[in-house]
Amino acid sequence: MQVTMTVNDVEVTREIEGRLLLVHFLRDVLALTGTHWGCDTSNCGTCVVLLDGEPVKSCTVLAAMAGGHAVRTVEGLAKGAELDPIQQGFMQCHGLQCGFCTPGMMMTARALLNTNPDPTEAEIREAISGQICRCTGYATIVRSVRWAAVHEAAAAARVTETTESAEAGEIADAGQPAGSVA
Ligand code: FES
Ligand code: FES
Repeated sequence: MQVTMTVNDVEVTREIEGRLLLVHFLRDVLALTGTHWGCDTSNCGTCVVLLDGEPVKSCTVLAAMAGGHAVRTVEGLAKGAELDPIQQGFMQCHGLQCGFCTPGMMMTARALLNTNPDPTEAEIREAISGQICRCTGYATIVRSVRWAAVHEAAAAARVTETTESAEAGEIADAGQPAGSVA
């Protein structure tokens, strides 16, 4: 059968078997190997991607079911060369060691901040409770997500400030036509 979906903003169409799981479609058909496969029982969460913005375990979704939908993987998290605040947070706070759980962890964290930009430690722990990390003990992961929340909020405030001062500047300019002599 043929399936068409958008993956990281690019439309892809491929001939697949109906039984193919989304995690294998991403890894084996599209060579997007950032999404990992760590269990056979839907527990580990290392396969999490965003499906229309919602975190899903891609080992529990048939590729055919993603047809007509938008998938975002860890490879689509950064904007060009600029890392997503979540990625920066994991780097700054040492939220990873072997890195195997990291793509799924970061996609879930991204989804959390999209709906709750200022989560508490308890809310972060609840959000990532569907994902297993064998290396970090989770404390640095929680810190990484908090880092991202704080820095994302600060960046948003800077943009608002700049926009406001630009608008204020425009209003001031409007009162003084260009070239006029005071
Ligand atoms: S591979 Fe373990 S939950 Fe998907
Ligand atoms: S960093 Fe190794 S499993 Fe999480």
